[in-house]
Amino acid sequence: MKILICGKGGSGKSTLAVLTAGALAKKGYRILLVDADESNLGLARLLGLADTESISDKLGGKKGAKNKMMTAFSNGMPVFMNKKWRFDDIPPDFYQEKDNIRLLTIGKIHHFGEGCACAMGGMSKTLLSNLHMEKDEIVIVDTEAGIEHLGRGVGAGGDLMLVVVDPSYDSFLLARKIDEIGRRIDKSVRFVLNKTDAEVEELMCGQVDRKRIIACIPETRSVFRDALLGKSLEGCPRGIEHICGFIDQYKSVPGNAVQ
Ligand SMILES: Nc1ncnc2c1ncn2[C@@H]1O[C@H](COP(=O)(O)OP(=O)(O)O)[C@@H](O)[C@H]1O
Ligand SMILES: [Mg+2]
Repeated sequence: MKILICGKGGSGKSTLAVLTAGALAKKGYRILLVDADESNLGLARLLGLADTESISDKLGGKKGAKNKMMTAFSNGMPVFMNKKWRFDDIPPDFYQEKDNIRLLTIGKIHHFGEGCACAMGGMSKTLLSNLHMEKDEIVIVDTEAGIEHLGRGVGAGGDLMLVVVDPSYDSFLLARKIDEIGRRIDKSVRFVLNKTDAEVEELMCGQVDRKRIIACIPETRSVFRDALLGKSLEGCPRGIEHICGFIDQYKSVPGNAVQ
């Protein structure tokens, strides 16, 4: 099953991607966490891992990666593996691993004026579409903020879009927009309300389709503090178990996530 974590910048995508990955890994799933946000520098740190070279860097930087992709496409082959690929096909020097979670970083912007990140979007799309998975495997993609990645078609390879919604009007607007795009491409869309308390939760529930809210994650001081200090996220706030429960159940329905 391939899950895209979407939403506004700062809504908590990376935080919830890491916490959900951790909770699912504890349940025995093998997790591939894909860092597809070219401007977010902190995902490895939230997992307690050191920064590492991205796939794009390994392929010779953005230009090198783009050229390799163009050549590969013109030969009718995807760039990452020249066939449908599986978890265990990823070369060990392309990912970092911790507690049953593999972290794969697509690429980052390094220099002023280096141009757009289309090559990275293309790579995420190819990678996801060609990945064949077993029942006990889950991919969680931490996408960049907003909807540019959807414009690039990154979502095509995903089964489920989880929209993280924080208590701001912009976040509601974006959540509805993502919902609209997701439904047009036939993707399941669900909402996770983040940084809530009882009052805020009530106010937020009316802003998106209530029936598709799968979890409410309270504003949790320890999460905020750990992230502020550059520490890994160790605790598991209330509500994360509802995300895991939903994923478990979603996977168990025949025809939902076949892979
Ligand atoms: N449930 C939460 N409780 C407290 N702080 C949170 C929570 N979720 C996210 N944060 C904080 O909000 C900020 C943005 O989170 P982040 O995951 O980086 O957002 P995004 O990836 O969507 O840009 C960080 O400081 C993070 O620690
Ligand atoms: Mg992020």
